[in-house]
Amino acid sequence: MAQWVTVWRAAQLVGVPRGVLQQRVRAGEIELADGLISTETLIKLYPQTDLEASGMLERVVRIREEAFGKRLRERLLPSQEVLAQRLFSQGQELADVQRLLQRYHALVIRLRDELRPLAVDDARLAALHRQLNDGLARALATEPVDLLDVMDDVLKMVSAQVTLRPSGHQFTVEGRDTLLQAGMRAGLKLNYGCGNGSCGMCKVRVIHGQVVRTMHTDYALSETEKAQGYLLACAHTAASSELTIETLEASGPADIPVQQIVTQVRAIRALAPDTRLLHLQTPRSQRLRFLAGQSVTLGLALAQGPQDGLRRTLPIASCPCDDRNLHFFIARDDSDALAQALFADRLKAGDAVTLWGPEGDFVLTDSQRPLVFVACDTGFAPIKSLIEHALSLDAAPSLSLFWLATRPDGHFLANQCRAWSEALDGFEYTLLLHADPSAGACQVAAAIRADLFDIDCDFYLAGPAPFVESVRAELRAAGVPAGQVCQELVE
Ligand code: FES
Repeated sequence: MAQWVTVWRAAQLVGVPRGVLQQRVRAGEIELADGLISTETLIKLYPQTDLEASGMLERVVRIREEAFGKRLRERLLPSQEVLAQRLFSQGQELADVQRLLQRYHALVIRLRDELRPLAVDDARLAALHRQLNDGLARALATEPVDLLDVMDDVLKMVSAQVTLRPSGHQFTVEGRDTLLQAGMRAGLKLNYGCGNGSCGMCKVRVIHGQVVRTMHTDYALSETEKAQGYLLACAHTAASSELTIETLEASGPADIPVQQIVTQVRAIRALAPDTRLLHLQTPRSQRLRFLAGQSVTLGLALAQGPQDGLRRTLPIASCPCDDRNLHFFIARDDSDALAQALFADRLKAGDAVTLWGPEGDFVLTDSQRPLVFVACDTGFAPIKSLIEHALSLDAAPSLSLFWLATRPDGHFLANQCRAWSEALDGFEYTLLLHADPSAGACQVAAAIRADLFDIDCDFYLAGPAPFVESVRAELRAAGVPAGQVCQELVE
């Protein structure tokens, strides 16, 4: 008998992005019942059924088992305590099902026995008795188990699925992640503050399922809150394979508070001869809550030089799921005091940098159209953050990147683009080179027109003003609605 699984779980079972399954739902290839997909449908779409006769089934099953095993090995397993709790809760579920089955079995046997003497003189009752006997024989016959069902059971042990109320968003908790970490890794905008159990801002209410505490917390919940099922998401993880919690989520940049944090330079690394990575780290107890694509203002108190006390607003290049380690890309520029300090080694590991923010509304919208990212030079910073966010959300049918460099070493993270493209079916990228941003923008627009069959996408543009304005004008001229073009100026 087919089981029913969520779209999220179905994508894990067959090893495709969730966006691919959602696209098939929209195309009418997959029918959902209460938001669930039957494993029968999955098997049909990710096909083995027709292969049985040709003898290929075993090979396909083996390949699928190997791929599944690899995906399992790549996961960090939960702690022994969490595994034991999940095993216990699955054991309970199994025991419930067994008890029910035994009762149904006893009921059917009793009915059959009572029917037997009545069926002797009554043809209709005799037919009913035969039907009951045949049905019982079929139900008791040993059938090969459905491989997807087995995989689903194993996944329930190593990862838990969490559903948020009232949004209905879902994510999986893997390894030793807390509920908060797992939600952030999934690209969700959960409410939180310190991330270490002292502020109480990540309070959630458990509606269904079990949790286990993973660390000590200083914040004390009231007895009433505890009785109502409240707990801190940053200090708990899922103990049952399914969990439903009620929580607040930010709907956009306006819900993210402006913060001031004194960070430390963790490292400065050359990405290319003329581009450096500035890696700042926040204190453990004061992390930066931000949305992918946003910027912050950095304030430096340099020990020497005329630029003492300089400030500069920069887009964050890293993912909000790592709110302690913040990355920035800085190009060599003699007119920029921060770039001068960086390239002259006047800013070093261990130096303090004050940060204010986040700011800006260059963030992903909720649409489910294909996403097209267009960057020029270090405009790649917010674009990288957005791409990582889109990959975490796993909801866009496809992602394309067009990256123009105005100097020969300008594609300073081409390896990263290659890695995305090798790892993901739905990601493509094009690197372009032109010394002039405006003329380069025309080249980019031509590449977009040549590569995209369908222009009904959401476009995210980041780079210097002449570049962004030119690409925007080209897209508008091609018929892209203004609401589908989001831009950020990065000088
Ligand atoms: S984020 Fe502060 S207590 Fe959880």
